[in-house]
Amino acid sequence: MASTGSAPPALPRHVAVIMDGNGRWAALRGLPRVEGHRMGVRAVRAVSECARELGIPYLTLYAFSLENWGRPEPEVRTLMALLQEFLGSELPDLLRHGIRLRVIGEIPSLPLAVRQILSRTMSATEGNAGMTLTLGLSYAGRNEIVRAARALAADAAAGTIRPEAVTEDVFASRLDTAGMPDPDLVIRTSGEIRVSNFLLWQSAYAEYVFTDVLWPDFGKSEFLQALEEYTRRHRRYGLTGEQAGAPPAK
Ligand code: FPP
Repeated sequence: MASTGSAPPALPRHVAVIMDGNGRWAALRGLPRVEGHRMGVRAVRAVSECARELGIPYLTLYAFSLENWGRPEPEVRTLMALLQEFLGSELPDLLRHGIRLRVIGEIPSLPLAVRQILSRTMSATEGNAGMTLTLGLSYAGRNEIVRAARALAADAAAGTIRPEAVTEDVFASRLDTAGMPDPDLVIRTSGEIRVSNFLLWQSAYAEYVFTDVLWPDFGKSEFLQALEEYTRRHRRYGLTGEQAGAPPAK
């Protein structure tokens, strides 16, 4: 259930990012696309560090969509290798800073080596109470909703849940994001203005910030700028501006 809006919001509890523009960043420099992804990992580190330093409790990054499997095989292979490398090198930092790693998406479709390192990193960090860093891997919002619906339908068929007991909260508890607050702010880089199957259920009342900056160029100052834009928004959750505490229109 969405809470009632009031004055401009403080820092978001949950920021989600559609990291876009790696390929174009590389093309602009005459480099292969994978070089853009490599530089994208640097931006992942910079933004994660900034979010943690600011005390933002949840950061979710769309790293690989279910649709991305359709990209050329060498690109997919490089992305999986970068992911493995990232997870392998990041564990000491995650532990030092109390960060918990989570993953959302159709995990069984990931290569075994990636699943293994994901599972090791998630177990090693599951007791951490600092920021939760969630990676969207093999993720698609419609697919997530269908998997949740299927699980509930199976429970109903088995007689363990009554159809009328399926509320919004029960449904949300079957999504990959179970237990996490909905994103307050969704950032998309690279000038594309679309949602691309990301957190469809969870973003019902999210604020969006779109920036032309390509993901490998997105760093702390761009992140702070997006947060600043968010704090200037007035969230209304379907109420009137007056009800939600917005300043009167001039
Ligand atoms: C979109 O840019 C980006 C991706 C499909 C991959 C994002 C991956 C990373 C930032 C690196 C790996 C991530 C982690 C967490 C280690 P695009 O390739 O669609 O760019 P384009 O639209 O310019 O072609």
